[in-house]
Amino acid sequence: MASNRTFTMIKPDAVKAGNIGNILQMINAGGFKIVALKYTQLSKADAETFYAVHNERPFFGELVEFMTSGPIVSAILEKDNAVEDFRTLIGATNPADAAEGTIRKAYANSIGENAVHGSDSDDNAAIEGMFHFSGREIH
Ligand code: CMP
Repeated sequence: MASNRTFTMIKPDAVKAGNIGNILQMINAGGFKIVALKYTQLSKADAETFYAVHNERPFFGELVEFMTSGPIVSAILEKDNAVEDFRTLIGATNPADAAEGTIRKAYANSIGENAVHGSDSDDNAAIEGMFHFSGREIH
């Protein structure tokens, strides 16, 4: 059964560009309820752990460098069918392929600097949410 929660980050490119408010607005307009929210910055160790699944990829070093380059906003979102519906709302990983009306179409620059993260499965949503938030930060 699909879970009703997903995890997201507004990445350093979108924070630097001043798009936190615009992106949270799109998330709310998409029917997602924010149940946890944090303005923070990943350390190198945090990013290497969070993205461990990608550590053999050629872009891993670039990914860690980018994700630690400035503050991010992390959040847990609630909605029926959250993981799949949020991936529809954010659009394709490469903004060149992202559909009209998606967050990445509006705010992403490139496949690496793509404005937002969205969990790719219910299991990863739970793991990623627990990486960023303690139980008493989730409401
Ligand atoms: P996301 O899906 O949030 O998590 C993995 C990230 O790796 C992905 O977003 C992109 O930001 C990044 N990524 C994926 N493919 C590439 C690539 N070919 N070059 C650089 N970064 C990439």
